[in-house]
Amino acid sequence: MIFPEKTPHEIKADLEEALLRAQPYTQQGHLADYIPVLGKSDPSMLGISVTFLDGTTVSAGDTQVPFTMQSVSKIFSLIVALQDRSFDYVFSRVGMEPTGDPFNSIVKLETIKPHRPLNPMINAGAIAVSSLVSGSTADERFERILDLLRRMSGRPDIQLNQAVYQSELDTADRNRALAYFMRDSGIIEGDVEEILDLYVRHCAIELCSADLSRIAAILSNDGFDLFTGEQIVPLPIARIVKTFMVTCGMYNASGEYAISVGVPSKSGVSGGIMATVPHKMGIGVFGPSLDEKGNSIGGVKLLEELSARWNLSIF
Ligand code: DON
Repeated sequence: MIFPEKTPHEIKADLEEALLRAQPYTQQGHLADYIPVLGKSDPSMLGISVTFLDGTTVSAGDTQVPFTMQSVSKIFSLIVALQDRSFDYVFSRVGMEPTGDPFNSIVKLETIKPHRPLNPMINAGAIAVSSLVSGSTADERFERILDLLRRMSGRPDIQLNQAVYQSELDTADRNRALAYFMRDSGIIEGDVEEILDLYVRHCAIELCSADLSRIAAILSNDGFDLFTGEQIVPLPIARIVKTFMVTCGMYNASGEYAISVGVPSKSGVSGGIMATVPHKMGIGVFGPSLDEKGNSIGGVKLLEELSARWNLSIF
Protein backbone atom coordinates (compact mmCIF):
# COMPACT_ATOMS: atom_id res chain seq x y z
CA MET A 1 0.00 0.00 0.00
CA ILE A 2 1.12 3.53 -0.75
CA PHE A 3 0.97 4.63 2.88
CA PRO A 4 2.77 1.85 4.73
CA GLU A 5 2.17 3.78 7.92
CA LYS A 6 -1.61 3.87 7.43
CA THR A 7 -4.08 1.00 7.74
CA PRO A 8 -7.13 0.83 5.41
CA HIS A 9 -9.12 1.87 8.46
CA GLU A 10 -7.06 5.05 8.86
CA ILE A 11 -7.30 5.77 5.15
CA LYS A 12 -11.06 5.47 5.37
CA ALA A 13 -11.05 7.90 8.31
CA ASP A 14 -9.11 10.40 6.15
CA LEU A 15 -11.68 10.00 3.36
CA GLU A 16 -14.57 10.46 5.79
CA GLU A 17 -13.06 13.64 7.15
CA ALA A 18 -12.41 15.09 3.70
CA LEU A 19 -16.00 14.19 2.77
CA LEU A 20 -17.35 16.00 5.79
CA ARG A 21 -15.51 19.17 4.81
CA ALA A 22 -16.55 18.98 1.16
CA GLN A 23 -20.20 18.01 1.70
CA PRO A 24 -21.57 21.55 2.39
CA TYR A 25 -20.36 22.73 -1.03
CA THR A 26 -22.81 20.40 -2.77
CA GLN A 27 -25.56 22.86 -1.80
CA GLN A 28 -23.97 25.60 -3.90
CA GLY A 29 -24.05 23.80 -7.24
CA HIS A 30 -26.62 22.73 -9.80
CA LEU A 31 -27.50 19.55 -11.69
CA ALA A 32 -26.77 19.05 -15.41
CA ASP A 33 -30.44 19.31 -16.31
CA TYR A 34 -29.72 20.10 -19.97
CA ILE A 35 -29.78 16.29 -20.13
CA PRO A 36 -33.25 15.89 -18.54
CA VAL A 37 -32.64 12.53 -16.80
CA LEU A 38 -29.48 13.88 -15.11
CA GLY A 39 -31.62 16.65 -13.61
CA LYS A 40 -33.31 14.00 -11.44
CA SER A 41 -30.19 13.10 -9.40
CA ASP A 42 -29.95 13.86 -5.69
CA PRO A 43 -27.59 16.89 -5.55
CA SER A 44 -26.47 16.18 -1.97
CA MET A 45 -24.77 12.91 -2.89
CA LEU A 46 -21.00 12.71 -2.59
CA GLY A 47 -18.71 9.69 -2.54
CA ILE A 48 -15.12 8.70 -3.15
CA SER A 49 -13.18 5.49 -3.82
CA VAL A 50 -9.42 5.12 -3.87
CA THR A 51 -7.64 2.13 -5.40
CA PHE A 52 -3.99 1.58 -4.53
CA LEU A 53 -1.65 -0.23 -6.85
CA ASP A 54 -1.74 -3.40 -4.73
CA GLY A 55 -5.43 -3.60 -5.67
CA THR A 56 -6.85 -2.44 -2.32
CA THR A 57 -9.88 -0.16 -2.69
CA VAL A 58 -11.14 2.05 0.14
CA SER A 59 -14.43 3.96 -0.22
CA ALA A 60 -16.46 6.51 1.72
CA GLY A 61 -19.80 8.25 1.19
CA ASP A 62 -22.29 7.55 -1.59
CA THR A 63 -20.23 5.02 -3.48
CA GLN A 64 -22.88 2.43 -4.31
CA VAL A 65 -24.77 4.80 -6.58
CA PRO A 66 -24.25 4.12 -10.30
CA PHE A 67 -23.77 7.13 -12.56
CA THR A 68 -23.05 7.65 -16.24
CA MET A 69 -19.51 8.51 -17.28
CA GLN A 70 -20.36 11.45 -19.55
CA SER A 71 -17.15 13.26 -20.43
CA VAL A 72 -14.98 10.86 -18.42
CA SER A 73 -15.66 8.40 -21.25
CA LYS A 74 -13.84 10.71 -23.69
CA ILE A 75 -10.57 9.30 -22.35
CA PHE A 76 -11.56 5.79 -23.43
CA SER A 77 -12.81 6.59 -26.92
CA LEU A 78 -9.48 8.39 -27.36
CA ILE A 79 -7.53 5.32 -26.16
CA VAL A 80 -9.36 3.13 -28.69
CA ALA A 81 -8.91 5.65 -31.54
CA LEU A 82 -5.19 5.95 -30.78
CA GLN A 83 -4.92 2.16 -30.98
CA ASP A 84 -6.80 2.11 -34.28
CA ARG A 85 -4.99 4.92 -36.12
CA SER A 86 -1.56 6.49 -36.17
CA PHE A 87 -1.07 9.28 -33.65
CA ASP A 88 -0.38 11.65 -36.57
CA TYR A 89 -3.70 10.81 -38.16
CA VAL A 90 -5.69 11.28 -34.94
CA PHE A 91 -4.00 14.60 -34.24
CA SER A 92 -4.62 15.81 -37.77
CA ARG A 93 -8.34 15.68 -36.82
CA VAL A 94 -8.15 16.96 -33.25
CA GLY A 95 -5.61 19.26 -31.61
CA MET A 96 -3.66 19.11 -28.35
CA GLU A 97 -4.30 22.56 -26.88
CA PRO A 98 -6.54 23.72 -24.02
CA THR A 99 -9.35 26.08 -25.02
CA GLY A 100 -10.32 28.34 -22.13
CA ASP A 101 -13.90 27.98 -23.43
CA PRO A 102 -16.82 25.93 -22.07
CA PHE A 103 -16.86 22.23 -23.01
CA ASN A 104 -19.69 22.60 -25.51
CA SER A 105 -18.54 25.84 -27.12
CA ILE A 106 -18.88 26.20 -30.85
CA VAL A 107 -17.05 29.48 -31.30
CA LYS A 108 -13.44 28.39 -31.93
CA LEU A 109 -14.44 25.71 -34.44
CA GLU A 110 -15.16 28.45 -36.92
CA THR A 111 -12.54 31.04 -36.00
CA ILE A 112 -9.52 28.71 -35.89
CA LYS A 113 -8.02 27.50 -39.18
CA PRO A 114 -8.00 24.63 -39.95
CA HIS A 115 -11.45 24.15 -38.31
CA ARG A 116 -10.07 21.38 -36.12
CA PRO A 117 -11.37 21.05 -32.55
CA LEU A 118 -8.68 22.20 -30.15
CA ASN A 119 -8.50 19.02 -28.06
CA PRO A 120 -10.23 15.63 -27.55
CA MET A 121 -11.75 16.58 -24.16
CA ILE A 122 -14.20 19.20 -25.44
CA ASN A 123 -17.39 17.91 -27.03
CA ALA A 124 -16.37 18.76 -30.61
CA GLY A 125 -13.02 17.00 -30.15
CA ALA A 126 -14.58 13.90 -28.61
CA ILE A 127 -17.14 13.68 -31.42
CA ALA A 128 -14.27 13.86 -33.92
CA VAL A 129 -12.51 11.09 -31.96
CA SER A 130 -15.67 8.93 -32.08
CA SER A 131 -15.51 9.13 -35.87
CA LEU A 132 -12.03 7.53 -35.71
CA VAL A 133 -13.02 4.39 -33.75
CA SER A 134 -12.89 1.35 -36.04
CA GLY A 135 -15.53 -1.37 -36.36
CA SER A 136 -17.70 -2.76 -39.11
CA THR A 137 -20.96 -1.77 -37.38
CA ALA A 138 -22.02 0.96 -34.96
CA ASP A 139 -22.60 -1.73 -32.30
CA GLU A 140 -19.11 -3.11 -32.79
CA ARG A 141 -17.54 0.33 -32.39
CA PHE A 142 -19.45 0.88 -29.15
CA GLU A 143 -18.63 -2.61 -27.85
CA ARG A 144 -14.92 -1.94 -28.30
CA ILE A 145 -15.07 1.09 -25.97
CA LEU A 146 -17.31 -0.79 -23.52
CA ASP A 147 -15.00 -3.81 -23.59
CA LEU A 148 -11.98 -1.65 -22.70
CA LEU A 149 -13.88 -0.27 -19.69
CA ARG A 150 -14.98 -3.73 -18.61
CA ARG A 151 -11.43 -5.02 -18.73
CA MET A 152 -10.02 -2.04 -16.87
CA SER A 153 -12.69 -2.09 -14.15
CA GLY A 154 -12.76 -5.87 -13.85
CA ARG A 155 -16.56 -5.59 -14.11
CA PRO A 156 -17.81 -7.55 -17.15
CA ASP A 157 -21.38 -6.42 -16.43
CA ILE A 158 -20.86 -2.67 -16.97
CA GLN A 159 -23.64 -1.43 -19.26
CA LEU A 160 -25.24 1.47 -21.02
CA ASN A 161 -27.88 3.45 -19.10
CA GLN A 162 -30.63 3.40 -21.70
CA ALA A 163 -32.68 6.23 -20.16
CA VAL A 164 -29.73 8.65 -19.99
CA TYR A 165 -28.67 7.70 -23.53
CA GLN A 166 -32.15 8.38 -24.89
CA SER A 167 -32.53 11.57 -22.89
CA GLU A 168 -29.27 12.97 -24.25
CA LEU A 169 -29.93 11.84 -27.80
CA ASP A 170 -33.30 13.61 -27.75
CA THR A 171 -31.71 16.89 -26.65
CA ALA A 172 -28.31 16.78 -28.42
CA ASP A 173 -28.89 19.62 -30.84
CA ARG A 174 -25.80 21.52 -29.85
CA ASN A 175 -23.57 18.47 -30.30
CA ARG A 176 -25.41 17.74 -33.54
CA ALA A 177 -24.56 21.25 -34.74
CA LEU A 178 -20.89 20.74 -33.84
CA ALA A 179 -20.84 17.42 -35.70
CA TYR A 180 -22.46 18.74 -38.89
CA PHE A 181 -20.15 21.74 -38.86
CA MET A 182 -17.16 19.40 -38.62
CA ARG A 183 -18.35 17.28 -41.51
CA ASP A 184 -18.81 20.41 -43.58
CA SER A 185 -15.21 21.38 -42.85
CA GLY A 186 -13.82 17.91 -43.60
CA ILE A 187 -12.84 17.01 -40.01
CA ILE A 188 -15.24 14.09 -39.83
CA GLU A 189 -16.43 11.83 -42.60
CA GLY A 190 -19.39 9.49 -42.87
CA ASP A 191 -22.79 9.31 -41.25
CA VAL A 192 -23.02 12.17 -38.72
CA GLU A 193 -25.98 10.68 -36.84
CA GLU A 194 -24.11 7.38 -36.41
CA ILE A 195 -21.00 9.16 -35.11
CA LEU A 196 -23.09 11.25 -32.74
CA ASP A 197 -24.90 8.11 -31.57
CA LEU A 198 -21.59 6.46 -30.65
CA TYR A 199 -20.51 9.58 -28.74
CA VAL A 200 -23.79 9.78 -26.80
CA ARG A 201 -23.71 6.05 -26.11
CA HIS A 202 -20.21 6.03 -24.65
CA CYS A 203 -21.16 9.04 -22.49
CA ALA A 204 -24.06 6.97 -21.08
CA ILE A 205 -21.96 4.01 -19.90
CA GLU A 206 -22.79 3.53 -16.24
CA LEU A 207 -20.50 2.57 -13.36
CA CYS A 208 -19.77 3.30 -9.67
CA SER A 209 -16.96 5.28 -8.08
CA ALA A 210 -15.06 2.10 -7.17
CA ASP A 211 -15.06 1.07 -10.85
CA LEU A 212 -13.69 4.47 -11.75
CA SER A 213 -10.94 4.28 -9.13
CA ARG A 214 -9.87 0.86 -10.42
CA ILE A 215 -9.78 2.11 -13.99
CA ALA A 216 -7.79 5.16 -12.90
CA ALA A 217 -5.35 2.95 -10.97
CA ILE A 218 -4.46 1.16 -14.22
CA LEU A 219 -3.63 4.52 -15.80
CA SER A 220 -1.53 5.31 -12.68
CA ASN A 221 0.19 1.96 -13.24
CA ASP A 222 1.26 2.97 -16.78
CA GLY A 223 -1.54 0.93 -18.34
CA PHE A 224 -0.77 -2.40 -16.62
CA ASP A 225 -3.54 -4.40 -14.96
CA LEU A 226 -3.04 -4.41 -11.18
CA PHE A 227 -3.71 -8.11 -10.77
CA THR A 228 -2.57 -9.86 -13.97
CA GLY A 229 0.16 -7.44 -15.03
CA GLU A 230 -1.30 -7.43 -18.54
CA GLN A 231 -0.64 -4.21 -20.46
CA ILE A 232 -4.22 -3.07 -21.17
CA VAL A 233 -3.32 0.44 -22.33
CA PRO A 234 -0.03 0.86 -24.22
CA LEU A 235 2.35 3.13 -22.31
CA PRO A 236 2.60 5.92 -24.94
CA ILE A 237 -1.20 6.12 -25.04
CA ALA A 238 -1.51 6.11 -21.23
CA ARG A 239 0.97 8.97 -21.23
CA ILE A 240 -1.00 10.96 -23.84
CA VAL A 241 -4.34 10.63 -22.06
CA LYS A 242 -2.87 11.55 -18.67
CA THR A 243 -1.32 14.64 -20.22
CA PHE A 244 -4.70 15.67 -21.65
CA MET A 245 -6.19 15.09 -18.20
CA VAL A 246 -3.77 17.68 -16.79
CA THR A 247 -4.15 20.28 -19.55
CA CYS A 248 -7.83 19.88 -20.51
CA GLY A 249 -9.49 17.33 -18.18
CA MET A 250 -11.38 19.85 -16.05
CA TYR A 251 -12.31 22.03 -19.04
CA ASN A 252 -11.76 25.73 -18.58
CA ALA A 253 -11.00 25.16 -14.90
CA SER A 254 -7.99 22.95 -15.71
CA GLY A 255 -5.40 25.59 -14.81
CA GLU A 256 -6.91 26.45 -11.44
CA TYR A 257 -7.43 22.76 -10.66
CA ALA A 258 -3.81 21.95 -11.56
CA ILE A 259 -2.78 24.42 -8.88
CA SER A 260 -5.32 23.43 -6.23
CA VAL A 261 -5.27 19.62 -6.72
CA GLY A 262 -2.39 18.92 -9.11
CA VAL A 263 -3.42 15.44 -10.24
CA PRO A 264 -4.36 14.33 -13.82
CA SER A 265 -8.17 14.23 -13.71
CA LYS A 266 -11.23 14.05 -15.94
CA SER A 267 -14.70 15.20 -15.01
CA GLY A 268 -18.16 14.57 -16.43
CA VAL A 269 -21.47 16.42 -16.10
CA SER A 270 -23.17 13.58 -14.22
CA GLY A 271 -20.77 14.44 -11.38
CA GLY A 272 -17.98 11.91 -11.85
CA ILE A 273 -14.30 12.75 -11.56
CA MET A 274 -11.58 10.23 -12.37
CA ALA A 275 -8.16 11.14 -10.97
CA THR A 276 -4.92 9.26 -11.42
CA VAL A 277 -1.94 9.83 -9.15
CA PRO A 278 1.01 8.41 -11.13
CA HIS A 279 2.48 5.25 -9.59
CA LYS A 280 0.40 5.70 -6.45
CA MET A 281 -3.38 5.39 -6.78
CA GLY A 282 -6.52 5.86 -8.82
CA ILE A 283 -9.43 7.90 -7.45
CA GLY A 284 -13.12 7.86 -8.42
CA VAL A 285 -15.45 10.58 -7.16
CA PHE A 286 -19.17 11.07 -7.61
CA GLY A 287 -21.13 14.19 -6.68
CA PRO A 288 -23.77 15.37 -9.17
CA SER A 289 -23.99 18.97 -7.98
CA LEU A 290 -21.83 20.95 -10.44
CA ASP A 291 -20.04 24.28 -10.41
CA GLU A 292 -20.56 26.82 -13.20
CA LYS A 293 -17.94 25.12 -15.39
CA GLY A 294 -19.57 21.70 -15.20
CA ASN A 295 -17.26 20.05 -12.64
CA SER A 296 -18.57 18.34 -9.49
CA ILE A 297 -18.48 21.12 -6.91
CA GLY A 298 -18.22 18.85 -3.87
CA GLY A 299 -15.94 16.47 -5.78
CA VAL A 300 -13.39 19.16 -6.54
CA LYS A 301 -13.42 20.28 -2.88
CA LEU A 302 -12.99 16.68 -1.78
CA LEU A 303 -9.98 16.25 -4.05
CA GLU A 304 -8.49 19.53 -2.83
CA GLU A 305 -8.79 18.30 0.75
CA LEU A 306 -7.25 14.94 -0.06
CA SER A 307 -4.46 16.37 -2.17
CA ALA A 308 -3.44 18.69 0.67
CA ARG A 309 -3.73 15.95 3.30
CA TRP A 310 -1.84 13.27 1.33
CA ASN A 311 0.47 15.61 -0.62
CA LEU A 312 -0.75 14.26 -3.96
CA SER A 313 0.19 17.06 -6.35
CA ILE A 314 2.52 15.85 -9.09
CA PHE A 315 4.03 19.31 -9.41
O1 DON B 1 -22.05 15.95 -24.65
C1 DON B 1 -22.41 16.27 -23.52
O2 DON B 1 -22.81 17.40 -23.27
C2 DON B 1 -22.32 15.23 -22.43
N1 DON B 1 -22.59 13.94 -22.94
C3 DON B 1 -20.96 15.22 -21.81
C4 DON B 1 -20.49 16.56 -21.35
C5 DON B 1 -19.66 16.52 -20.15
O3 DON B 1 -19.65 15.61 -19.37
C6 DON B 1 -18.89 17.74 -19.88
N2 DON B 1 -18.39 17.68 -18.54
N3 DON B 1 -18.09 18.34 -17.71
